[in-house]
Amino acid sequence: MTRHFGKADIAALLARHRAGHTLDQPFYTDPAIFEVDAARVFFRDWHYAGHVSEIPAAGDYLLFEMLGESVIVLRDDAGAIRAFANVCRHRGARLCSAASGHVRRFTCPYHAWSYGLDGALVHARQLDPAIDRTALGLKPVATEVFEGLIYLSFADTPTSFDALRAELTPHVRAFDLARTKVAARRSYPVQANWKLLVENYNECYHCTAAHPEFARSHVIHMSADRAAPHNAALAARAAAAGLSVTTLDRIGAAAPAGSPDYSYNRYALFDGYQTGSEDGKPLAPLLGDVKACDGGASDVYVGILNPMLVYCDHAVIYRFVPIDATTSLQEVIWLVHEDAEEGRDYDAARLTWLWDVTTEADKRIIEANQQGVASRFYEPGPLVEMESYTRRFHDAYLARMR
Ligand code: FES
Ligand SMILES: [Fe+2]
Repeated sequence: MTRHFGKADIAALLARHRAGHTLDQPFYTDPAIFEVDAARVFFRDWHYAGHVSEIPAAGDYLLFEMLGESVIVLRDDAGAIRAFANVCRHRGARLCSAASGHVRRFTCPYHAWSYGLDGALVHARQLDPAIDRTALGLKPVATEVFEGLIYLSFADTPTSFDALRAELTPHVRAFDLARTKVAARRSYPVQANWKLLVENYNECYHCTAAHPEFARSHVIHMSADRAAPHNAALAARAAAAGLSVTTLDRIGAAAPAGSPDYSYNRYALFDGYQTGSEDGKPLAPLLGDVKACDGGASDVYVGILNPMLVYCDHAVIYRFVPIDATTSLQEVIWLVHEDAEEGRDYDAARLTWLWDVTTEADKRIIEANQQGVASRFYEPGPLVEMESYTRRFHDAYLARMR
């Protein structure tokens, strides 16, 4: 019999959290805590919603869906990216059901009210002329475009991208992510609480055992002292390639006030690996202004829920999608240079190989983790140094819950 937690119980759980340990069981299993997670984390933070190249022309749109909400992300007549709640202002029907498409205006399938690309109500048959139509536009949802990546937030007062843009842009500019396109995208259902997905993504302590394919090429699975010589050698190669190896950590307590969390770190691949490929050879044309494959991988966060990994020739974006207390979806999106042509410049199977096998393995270990944390025998366990980012995530999460 599962006991559901109330506010007072959550306060008690927060009070008894032991620093440097995993969370108490209810944080991974309890539907009431999941509701609080939704309010304090998912409806406050920023979410990766898509890439500008997916909606190149005025009237192109895509849907962003999470926790029962649906948002239309579109390009308007002026070329700007905007987002509106996918909720008709007449009786509330969903306006759009296709995951993406192109329209001149959005016409509700229920009674045919229609809305322009600016969200304004333009047609409402038989509506009393005395009613102010300007007050019946689609509800806007906050969006930010950072290097061609579209983020959205449900918050009433979303955090500002100003500091993130100022500090993070110089590190990622050379990749010119705005001039990429989606080469592949996959969804992996995971029977686990969303926090176990994030915890797992944030540490490579598990990589040696769980990811032989990844561990063969990426030094991040080694302890810091053993990885150091590889990272030192990377610095010169990265500089020649025009890439930053400066670590920027603005996660949790280190994030500027009123800003989303963000970070940047470039680490080395082993000798012989130019990128995250099976044979070490490049997978696609160089990104943006990158001058050469330096054999590195940049770990970038735009908000604590939006990590990506950027190699010299492709980027991999992760989206953690919460479904309920013990169900999530892991989305993985692969980006390549906008001019790259499949079959000529890249092969989708080779491109996606590493992060497909790695994500499938993660799915297995995370689901086993969920089964264990749901056990009557589970109690929070101690983290090691290599799990410091997982601890950083816990601290940022717990701060939001307090
Ligand atoms: S609910 Fe959309 S037109 Fe009636
Ligand atoms: Fe993993």
